[in-house]
Amino acid sequence: MKWGLSPFFGTLPRMSHRLGVLISGRGSNLQALIDAIEDRRLDARIALVISNRPEALGLERARRAGIETAVISHKGHATREAYDGLLVSELQSREVELVCLAGFMRLLTRAFVDAFPNRILNIHPSLLPAFPGVDAQRQAFEHGVKVTGVTVHLVTTELDAGPIVAQRPVLVAADDTVETLSARLLEEEHRIYPEAVARVLQDGWRIEGRRFVTVANS
Ligand code: GRF
Repeated sequence: MKWGLSPFFGTLPRMSHRLGVLISGRGSNLQALIDAIEDRRLDARIALVISNRPEALGLERARRAGIETAVISHKGHATREAYDGLLVSELQSREVELVCLAGFMRLLTRAFVDAFPNRILNIHPSLLPAFPGVDAQRQAFEHGVKVTGVTVHLVTTELDAGPIVAQRPVLVAADDTVETLSARLLEEEHRIYPEAVARVLQDGWRIEGRRFVTVANS
């Protein structure tokens, strides 16, 4: 909780937006969110980091930042809905307002998506709708595109298909390899994700059809 000064009431508590972050691995985008919060570029706090894999490096990043973590394996549940129900109850019990997928390698079921309507974000390393799914950097490279990029989008039950909140292009250089291109894409991911999270946490937008639209006069 942060404490802000009010001209009328003295010092009043000001609640930061509460985020939940879901990871499966390295967690560099989680780190970008942690850094943006520490640098005050993002007015939020991460209430919980959940990984479906115990070995995810991102768990250590969260612990180092003093953030609560939970490992909830996707294995051994009767249905995908049952698993998602568990994730939802953990997030809701921490009063999470916005869920950020950061390399979480699972498709969400309707049970999850409906629990956080237009309140789940994902970061993807291509200019969607081009190259959805895994290994998007390699898909784009091998396709021979001259421009690729990164996308932050709202999450639906369809893979990498929800309304686009933000995108940024990255040029493919003649001497790029998949590795050099992926490294530049990742740098851009780390810039755009905290910005997009901050945008979604502000009012003044709505979804029209499948478009994320800024509302005038807000
Ligand atoms: C990133 O490339 C992200 O766009 C994709 O999965 C990767 C996760 O990387 N969804 P990290 O775990 O955040 O380092």
